[in-house]
Amino acid sequence: MPAPPDIPWYHSYDLGDHKIVGAQSLEYLAYREEVIFGGVDVRDKTVLDICTWSGYMAFAAERHGAREVTAIDDAVWRHMRGREGFDYLHKHFDSKVLADQVHMDNLGAWLDGKHFDIILCLGLLYHVRNPIHLIELCAKHSDTCVLDTLLGMLDCPHPAMQYLPKYEPTELANYFVPNASCVEHLMRDYGFKNVRITLDKNGPSRAVFHATK
Ligand SMILES: C[S@@+](CC[C@H](N)C(=O)[O-])C[C@H]1O[C@@H](n2cnc3c(N)ncnc32)[C@H](O)[C@@H]1O
Repeated sequence: MPAPPDIPWYHSYDLGDHKIVGAQSLEYLAYREEVIFGGVDVRDKTVLDICTWSGYMAFAAERHGAREVTAIDDAVWRHMRGREGFDYLHKHFDSKVLADQVHMDNLGAWLDGKHFDIILCLGLLYHVRNPIHLIELCAKHSDTCVLDTLLGMLDCPHPAMQYLPKYEPTELANYFVPNASCVEHLMRDYGFKNVRITLDKNGPSRAVFHATK
């Protein structure tokens, strides 16, 4: 394989001959992978990874035995050459993960008529203008959703979401950070019966939610 493209990497990889050093360390990714796939059995399941970046968790789902994995993204694929990283790894892993470029504003239309056993919605909720609609779509189009997000409003005793003001219009941005109770209530209100919360080992401002019907 040629050397990996020289692009801003988010995920790190140890490919033997080549080491890719991204914003998320190998050690933290191994921890995340354990939390995410420790709580859901993807074997023989169809999996959608919404906003996959370089595809770390999509390729992990494939490795964990998923029957079919679909990975979609747009923002960092367009703005940060993320698709080049995904395509490089796809080739390196000889992967069968299906890929499609989908802007989050068009997610509902793209999901129309589709259903996945499991949707992975990781590191995305705080990036979208309508996080409630994102949860609604995950609930409508899956049986199980694993959602990971930054949290805010940690001291608020009610389900709450904080808006993060934007001082300049930008394509890559954070919009809202909810507290854990808000995510849990939204997931329940839109159709999930069981929601299990795992706070991140680095502190309470990030958590993974495993939601099933
Ligand atoms: C923090 S990364 C998470 C990547 C991957 N899902 C994970 O958890 O490792 C955020 C993802 O959200 C996508 N995204 C969608 N809308 C975005 C926006 N307005 N600003 C930044 N990222 C956005 C990016 O393309 C990127 O894949």
